[in-house]
Amino acid sequence: MPASPSPARRTVLRGAAALAGAAGAGAALTACSIATNSGGNTPATPTAPVELGAAADVPVGGAKLYRERKLIVSCPAEGEYKAFSAQCTHAGCVLDKIVEGEGNCPCHGSRFDVSTGKVLRGPATDPLPAVPVRAENGNLVAG
Ligand code: FES
Repeated sequence: MPASPSPARRTVLRGAAALAGAAGAGAALTACSIATNSGGNTPATPTAPVELGAAADVPVGGAKLYRERKLIVSCPAEGEYKAFSAQCTHAGCVLDKIVEGEGNCPCHGSRFDVSTGKVLRGPATDPLPAVPVRAENGNLVAG
């Protein structure tokens, strides 16, 4: 009796591994597509003014992610606001969190400086597009 599996069995195992790999790749693509679509097919930056709520929600010296609006607002100094698209410039996923001033893309790990939009870690190469933002009666309006 042979010590290793028969050629037919090896072929079957290899086929199963290939299928598992394909399913894994499909899942990865699907996950990225879902994330892309979770922002809808809307543009990366708003085409009309978007109300974001109280300006006080954005900490001075920090930033806040408005994931459902695909926006990040940072506040470098009291009363001063900057906004950026929260849609990753790599493949369009929406950033999922801000950690120590860095916006994180959950799809492939890009990181962006939330006070400038600059790429801190790829695979993204382009910065997050800036979006005009202003405080009106204590509320932020972007776009
Ligand atoms: S979509 Fe690929 S890193 Fe963000």
